[in-house]
Formats: sequence, structure tokens, C-alpha cells
Amino acid sequence: MGIRKTTEQVINVASVPHRSPFRYPGGKTWLVPYVRKWLKSLPFLPHEFGEPYAGGAIVGLSVLFEDLAHKLKIVEIDEDVASVWTTILSNQGGRLASKIASFELTSDTVKWWLAQRPRTLFDRAFQTILKNRVQRGGIMAPGAGLVKRGENGPGLVIGGPLPCAAVRLS
Ligand SMILES: C[S@@+](CC[C@H](N)C(=O)[O-])C[C@H]1O[C@@H](n2cnc3c(N)ncnc32)[C@H](O)[C@@H]1O
Repeated sequence: MGIRKTTEQVINVASVPHRSPFRYPGGKTWLVPYVRKWLKSLPFLPHEFGEPYAGGAIVGLSVLFEDLAHKLKIVEIDEDVASVWTTILSNQGGRLASKIASFELTSDTVKWWLAQRPRTLFDRAFQTILKNRVQRGGIMAPGAGLVKRGENGPGLVIGGPLPCAAVRLS
């Protein structure tokens, strides 16, 4: 049995700017260069780009940030994930970004937040972002373990602010 050669180009996902407030290991980052190339090849600027199975919506956000379509529509079934997008798109993005930036990350504050049943959409959005950041591999399903030392380097700084890409939509 030999090694199978492939003509597929390897995509360096680290070269794609991280524009999503979520981290989704194994997400669609690899798709961004293909979609970018396709949209740039069109003789017109599309009116709307749709991203089903949005999650962190990295493809659609890249399209918007790079002015490759006028509008973005994202479709997300998970109500926790959707709460983040709804919060951002209802002009609460700045408030959410401030909450993230000022959050004092300690074992106690994380446990307290994860134990809550959020009563507002805003709290649900913040709890979702927190879960996505502190649970191993960004897994948000119940029972996912907590990150202990961070991933990709120091990652989490206990007692410091919550590391998170800036929420730039509002
Ligand atoms: C792996 S994530 C997408 C990753 C993301 N695009 C990224 O790289 O940033 C898949 C998402 O699709 C959502 N999803 C699954 N089934 C769906 C459905 N039938 N309709 C809409 N969203 C769905 C999940 O809740 C999840 O958030």
C-alpha cells in the first residue's frame, strides 16, 4: 500500500482572519479562500450571500468584511448560538463586547455563569460565548469539560479578561 498523492491544495487556515466571535474547531475556515475566489470571479456584486449551518459564520463574515456581497443572511438552528447573533444584530454588539472585555475570568465566575439559566437574550448570548471559550475544543454541548491550560498557547489567563475576538457587528 503506497502513499496516495493528491493534487488538492492545502489551505492554511491560519491565513484566514479570525472575524467571528466564536471558535469552531473543524469549522468552515478552510472554505473561505474558495468562496472568496469564486465571488471575485463573478462579473457582478451579489446582492445577498447566505450561510446555512452558520455557527461562527466565518464564511459569511469574511464575505461581508471583504465587500464581496451587499448583504449576509445566516441560518442557525441552535438557540444558544442564535442568541449571540440576535444580540449582536439588535444593536447590543457593543454591550456584549464590553461585557466580554471586562469579564473577570476566574474559576468561580465561570462556574457561576455556566450554572445559570439565563433570563434574558443578552445573558444567554454572553453565557454561550463564555461556554464556547472555556469549554474544551469550543464544544458547547452539556457536559463538555473545561479548558485547563488553554489551547494554542497560553489561551486563558485566569483572573484576566476573557479572550475573544472583538464583536465588530452592531
Ligand atoms: C460546525 S458549525 C459551523 C461552523 C462555522 N461555519 C464556522 O466555521 O465558523 C455547524 C452549525 O450548524 C448548525 N446547524 C446544524 N443543523 C442545522 C440546521 N438544520 N439548520 C441550521 N443550522 C444548523 C449547528 O447548530 C452549528 O452551529
